[in-house]
Amino acid sequence: MRPRRKASSRGAAATGRRTSGRMPLISGNWKMNHNHFEAIQTIQKLAYALNPDDYQHVDVSVHPPFTDLRSVQTVLQADDIPIALGAQDCHPADSGAYTGEVSAAMLAKLDVTYVIVGHSERRGLFGETDELVNAKAQAVLRHGMVPIVCVGETVEQRRAGQAHDVVTGQLTGSLDILDAETVAKLVVAYEPVWAIGTGETATPADAQDMCSHVRSLVAGRWGSDAAGALRIQYGGSVKPSNAPDLMEQPDIDGALVGGASLDAADFARIANYRLYAA
Ligand code: 13P
Repeated sequence: MRPRRKASSRGAAATGRRTSGRMPLISGNWKMNHNHFEAIQTIQKLAYALNPDDYQHVDVSVHPPFTDLRSVQTVLQADDIPIALGAQDCHPADSGAYTGEVSAAMLAKLDVTYVIVGHSERRGLFGETDELVNAKAQAVLRHGMVPIVCVGETVEQRRAGQAHDVVTGQLTGSLDILDAETVAKLVVAYEPVWAIGTGETATPADAQDMCSHVRSLVAGRWGSDAAGALRIQYGGSVKPSNAPDLMEQPDIDGALVGGASLDAADFARIANYRLYAA
């Protein structure tokens, strides 16, 4: 049985209408979770939990580990499910002697639509620089896919009052070289490191503040058309309970969801945030 939805009293929230005109994007980053059997089960459950009408209001993507991509792609294609396939990373080169790596060219062959680049776990645990993130974003674009470029400050940086400067540096470094037309099609994910996997979500006001900062930066460097079209996600302990309030914010166009995306029912509720508004 499909989950029962609560009727919402909020007009705009209930219909998913957004004054910005930007289509919300709710993405599930599975990180290093789910083998390919579990991945198939999860995607089938998710497809069942979402109605065809839901996709009129929201774009949904799932980002399984590399080993699951082919299995998930097969299910999505066989059942004509309008969930976009995403990846969590890629190498900037198209091919070559890079043991253990996967190229954007390979991902494009699997009908991947979105590729996360510069996740804070890649930056923090694997030493990725803005320069490398920029090269990865260019590789993703070269192969006709959309990069989800992650930025976000650590708790120390926030306490030191450096959050805006850190995000400014990451954003301008990671999007270097790209032109306005390209930037307009991108997705930027603001994920404060202190909110990832901690259960401590940024307040909607704090998340809005940084997402608005990102949009202003883009307007200043690439112009207002690019800034108006760019989609900005918030990520960091997004759950069914906090998604509606985060999504109410004018500069938040979506969510990049970690832990809660592993459970199909929870993730479907987040994707359908518009139906669960208070
Ligand atoms: P959590 O939702 O588990 O905090 O993870 C966020 C994240 O890192 C998504 O990319």
